[in-house]
Amino acid sequence: MDTLEAVLTEFWGDYTLLLIAGVVVMALAVRLWAPQERKRVRLSAFFTLLHIVLTPAVGALRAAHSGFAHDVRLLSLTAAVIASVGVVTVLVFGVILPRMGLNVVSIVRDLLAAGITVVALLSIAHQEGFALSGLLTTSAVATAIVVFSLQEPLANIMGGIFLQADSSIQVGDWVKIGEINGKVTEMRWRYTAIETRNWETIIVPNGYLMKNEFLVLGRRQGQPVQWRRWVWFNVDYRHSPSEIIALVNEALKTIDNPAVAKDPVPHAVCMDIGSGIANVAPNTGAVSYCRYGARYWLLDLARDDPTDSFVRERIFSALTRAGIDLSLPAETLFVTKETRHRKEAKKERTLSRHVEVLSGINLFDDLTEEEKQKLAVDLRYSPFAAGEVMTRQGNQAHWLYILTGGEASVTVTSNGIEQEVARLHAGDFFGEMSLMTGEPRSATVEAVTDVQCYRLGGAHFKSIIAARPAIAHYVAGILAERQVGLDAARDELDEESRRAKLDQHKVDIVAKIRDFFGLDAA
Ligand code: CMP
Repeated sequence: MDTLEAVLTEFWGDYTLLLIAGVVVMALAVRLWAPQERKRVRLSAFFTLLHIVLTPAVGALRAAHSGFAHDVRLLSLTAAVIASVGVVTVLVFGVILPRMGLNVVSIVRDLLAAGITVVALLSIAHQEGFALSGLLTTSAVATAIVVFSLQEPLANIMGGIFLQADSSIQVGDWVKIGEINGKVTEMRWRYTAIETRNWETIIVPNGYLMKNEFLVLGRRQGQPVQWRRWVWFNVDYRHSPSEIIALVNEALKTIDNPAVAKDPVPHAVCMDIGSGIANVAPNTGAVSYCRYGARYWLLDLARDDPTDSFVRERIFSALTRAGIDLSLPAETLFVTKETRHRKEAKKERTLSRHVEVLSGINLFDDLTEEEKQKLAVDLRYSPFAAGEVMTRQGNQAHWLYILTGGEASVTVTSNGIEQEVARLHAGDFFGEMSLMTGEPRSATVEAVTDVQCYRLGGAHFKSIIAARPAIAHYVAGILAERQVGLDAARDELDEESRRAKLDQHKVDIVAKIRDFFGLDAA
C-alpha cells in the first residue's frame, strides 16, 4: 500500500498527468495543422515516456527508503522539464503563432527553449538541494574542457544570431557561397541550410558564414529582388554590332515571361570583337566573330536555366528570321600565301570599288578616269554606327565624306537651339564647306541608321580643286545652297530672301574659295 501511495503521490505531485494531456493536445494539433513539427512531437513524447517510467521508480525507491530515490527523481524531473518546454514551444511557435501569420525563425525559438530549459533545470536542482556551484568549480580542468569544446558551437550560435540580427542573410534569400548556389531554407542555431536547384541540401555552419564572404543573389538596395543574367551568343563579324544589337533588342523587348523583369528592359551588348588571334602559331588563325551578351533580370531565381533557355530561343529565332546564322566555333586558318601577285590583285579590287564610289557622285563628274584612279588611292572605307556623330559643328576639318548607304542627319545649333537642316543618303557628300573655305565645320552630321561611307583626305581633295577649278564652281553652287539652308535654320527666311541670299552666297563663296585656293578669276 505504501509503495502504491508513493507512486500516485509522485504522479500528482509533479503534474505528470498534465504533461501527458499536453503531449496529447500537441500531437493532435500537429497532426491537424503543423505536420512539419512531427519530429519535435516525437522528442517530447520520448522525454514524457522517460518521465513516466522513472516516476513510479522514484515512488518505489522512496517507499523502500533507498538513497537513489533523490537522484532518480532529479532525472525524472529533468525529463519532464525537457518534455514540457517541447510541448509549449511546439504549440506556441509551431501551431498558434504560424496560424496567426507570425513565423518566428527557428534559431530564436531554439534559443528560447534552451534558455527556459536551463533556467527550469537550475531552479529544480536548487529546490532539490543539488549544489551546482560545487559542480561548476570542482574541476578547473573539466571547466576548461567544456569551454574549449563549446568554442565551435558557440561561434555557430553567435554567428546565427548576428547574421539574423543584421539581416545579412535571411530565410528565402538566394546565395552563392564558394561553389554552392541555392536558397536559404532554414537558419538553425548551429547551421544554415541551403537547398540547391539540384535538389541537394547543404548544411553550412553559421561560424563559416561569419568568417567568409558570400553573395546574396539579386539583392540591391531599394530595388526588388531580381538577378541579372547573361546569355552569350556569337555572330560572324561581317554583321555590324549595331545591326545585331538592334535586332536582338527588338526581340528581347517583346518577351512576356513572368520570370523576366520588365525593368530594366532586357538588352544585348557587344562584349568582344573577334577576340583577337587564336591560340595557335602567330598569324595563322583568327576568331571570326563578335561575342554578344544578352542581359535580362530574373525575377524567379529558382528558374535560371529554363529562363536563360527561353531568352536563347528568342535570340536564335530573331537572328534566323533576319537570315543571320550564329557563328560556327571556327577559326580561319589562312593557308593561302600572301604573295605579291595576290596583294596586287586585292589592291586592284579595292581601287576599282573606290572608282565606282567616286563615279557615283556628281561632284566628280568632270574628272577623267585617270584622275579618279588617282583619287581612289586615298579613299578610305569608314562606316558609322547608328547614333554616331560623323562630324561636329565647330571642329577642324580633315576629311570629305561620301555616303554609299544609310542615312545621316545634318543639324545646326544656333543660340543653344538645335535644328535639323537636311538628311543625307547614298550618293551625297558632306564636309566640303570647311575644306573649301578653311572655316570650322558649319554643322553636325550624325548617323541616323548604320552608315556606309568613304572619306577622302582634305589635302587630296584640295589638290583636286586646285587642279580643276570647274569642280570648285560646281561645289560653290551646292555650298551656296547649303549655306542658305543653314541661314534659313538660323534666321527663319522666307522664299524671297532665300533666293536673294543664294545669289549673294554664290558670289561670296566663289570668291572665298578662289581666295583660299589661290585660284585665278575664271
Ligand atoms: P562642313 O561645314 O565641312 O561640315 C558640316 C557639313 O554639313 C558641311 O560641311 C556640309 O557638307 C553639310 N551641310 C551643312 N549644311 C547643309 C545643308 N543645308 N544641307 C546639306 N548639307 C549641309
